[in-house]
Amino acid sequence: MQVIVRPDLMAATELAARIIAKRVRAFPDTTLGLATGVTMERLYEKLVHMHRGENLDFSLIRTFNLDEYIGLPADSRHSYRHYMNHHLFNHINIDARNTFIPNGMASDLKAECARYEKRIKDVGGIDLQLLGIGKAGHIGFNEPLSALKSRTRDKSLTPMTIVQNSPLFDGPERMPRRALTMGIGTILEAKELLLLVTGRSKAEVLSNAVEGPITSMISASAIQLHEKCTVIADAAAAELLKGREYYDWIFHNEPEWGEFRISANSDLQTSEFR
Ligand code: F6R
Repeated sequence: MQVIVRPDLMAATELAARIIAKRVRAFPDTTLGLATGVTMERLYEKLVHMHRGENLDFSLIRTFNLDEYIGLPADSRHSYRHYMNHHLFNHINIDARNTFIPNGMASDLKAECARYEKRIKDVGGIDLQLLGIGKAGHIGFNEPLSALKSRTRDKSLTPMTIVQNSPLFDGPERMPRRALTMGIGTILEAKELLLLVTGRSKAEVLSNAVEGPITSMISASAIQLHEKCTVIADAAAAELLKGREYYDWIFHNEPEWGEFRISANSDLQTSEFR
């Protein structure tokens, strides 16, 4: 795992976007695993900006989202299908037929989960899986005690997740209590993981996930098992990380980060998304 800390939210988001853009340019038919949530809104804004301003081409890529609420139709403004269309898909040149999100309205949820897993397998797996982390330590909706080998399935949401996400609904009572989510086992099969974490409110859970023991109580800690995982945090989220000096050394010295150091410097002059 590599942990890269950037000074602020904009710089952290910019770096995550540049990593994704590099992958899409190098492998135009890449399969991306996508996440939703407030953190990702800014990242998608940046990708849209790169599509418009830098000709970033999404025409051949495929996407699989981590999760979807159970019981919300795709056209509900609270569904993750709506979120993805609104924040990303409607603004880039992606083929909508290549965008996959679990169907939380399926009459047979078990069969839907099996279908989703098979679809991922049939395209050769996910090349780069984007992740955010919830305050309950989840990735996707893998709430505490999610088996580290779990596959796509339905999951009840914790009270903490309901508190975190219910402001996006018209009151907590309107928020679904269950969701379909890729499992930890599914996520770990992606060829590469990219976790983006911003804000002081995530500092404790991030330090537990990255520097604490691997435990199903913090399902994000399972990323420690992945051989190619990059964590990008802003300084606020990184506040409790003990290994910060070492992580910074890597970013400033390892050749693989060279091109990103250069763009990070030029971003300082134009630290705005548009
Ligand atoms: C949703 C997902 C979640 C979020 C996490 C952080 O698809 O994967 O794990 O990434 O709940 O959400 P925000 O960014 O809203 O704090």
